[in-house]
Amino acid sequence: MDVEKLLSGLYSDEGRQNPYPFYAALHELGPIRELPNRPEHSTVSAVAGGYDVLDQLLRDPEWYKQSPPGWEDEEILRTFNSSMMFINPPDHTRMRAVFAKTFTPRRLGELEPVIVRVTDAMLDRMAEAGAGGAELDFVADFAYPIPALVMAEFIGLPEADLPWYRQRVDWIDEFMDVAGKTPERLARANTAAAELRGYYRELIADRRRRPGEDLISGLVEALDGGGVDLTEEELISNLIVLFNASFVTTVYMFSNGLPLLLAHPEVVAALPGDDELTRGCVDEVLRMEAPVHFLARAAPRDTVLHGVPVAKDENVLMLIAAANRDPARFPGPDRFDPRRGGPPSLAFGVGLHFCLGSAVSRLEGRLALPRLFARFPKLQVTEKPVYSGSLFLRGIDTMSVTTGG
Ligand code: HEM
Repeated sequence: MDVEKLLSGLYSDEGRQNPYPFYAALHELGPIRELPNRPEHSTVSAVAGGYDVLDQLLRDPEWYKQSPPGWEDEEILRTFNSSMMFINPPDHTRMRAVFAKTFTPRRLGELEPVIVRVTDAMLDRMAEAGAGGAELDFVADFAYPIPALVMAEFIGLPEADLPWYRQRVDWIDEFMDVAGKTPERLARANTAAAELRGYYRELIADRRRRPGEDLISGLVEALDGGGVDLTEEELISNLIVLFNASFVTTVYMFSNGLPLLLAHPEVVAALPGDDELTRGCVDEVLRMEAPVHFLARAAPRDTVLHGVPVAKDENVLMLIAAANRDPARFPGPDRFDPRRGGPPSLAFGVGLHFCLGSAVSRLEGRLALPRLFARFPKLQVTEKPVYSGSLFLRGIDTMSVTTGG
């Protein structure tokens, strides 16, 4: 298969449902390939799935994030381009430093009882709703509420606002997908960005009047005291991106992980009480079923990578989910092995933009999964799971289960 056929297969419904055979075919073609017949306005000139080349490019601070040309006046792009995830140093360094201070080991420690409380409440609800063999939706009842409620409490968003908020997150995420940049999706993403900006302006005003213990209160106090090198509008952009980034990713860590884990009953049985095994499972789930499938970076100068020329300012499409199954780095890459060790997967990226919340998601997995299996050792998936249909954020959106209770 040549690389263009392979990419169109990957973007098809079949590829979005199961991209892994396409990634395996890509590895056979090499770590990086040129895209000879790319569309007229595309700035992507190569696609890479090799672990080593992606690890090297992502760690290189000169490879940079480029926003799509001609979209500068769109609300969604203005929000993205004033947030750490989408920009380059020195602004990236300045903004990331503000938020890095909020993800301290102490704050993580404070999150533990919140995660345990939220998880146990969800498990109680599942026990009740699933009594007598009734089917539940694992995503609606476990995978979604845990990260949503934990992060909402951390940031300081009222729980009652979450359904409204989630709709806006979905509109933005649709736009982020490979084929997502249609005028309709752009319009919805712009609406979402404008509404979320208004929402945060009100929330910030409220916390000024009535400060709490949450992230927003702390940041607003620091902002007003001159202790934070951010404007209020930049604070809003970063809050939008932070909550978006924390959300569906962690939902998919749980939902994509369940079928993998249940296929290994001996692992599931051993999880409660074995913290090392649990950590291994969380990392192996993220390696095999990464919620984020691709990133992109632009070349700082003309260069040649493994014989593939990439001109200055052209992008490499970086298939990190393919790199996580690179047989050169992960022998038997399709085998679930929570004790495999080896290099870290690229599920959280690497380098300058390495995920700021990786420790939060890992902690949620470490605390919630053993509780789930201790409570419901006979948990079973009863129907074929339904995937999101997005390749950027790929994961299970609906999955019927019975608790065995
Ligand atoms: C399993 C869950 C998660 C996955 C798979 C994930 C994945 C990623 C990836 C791949 C990146 C790198 C983006 C790039 O290089 O362009 C990233 C960045 C980021 N993530 Fe996560 N993430 C997860 C959870 C979280 C959580 C819980 C938070 C917040 C608490 C968060 C906040 C961020 C932020 C703020 C960035 C941007 C950092 C920067 O640009 O410097 N993520 N994440």
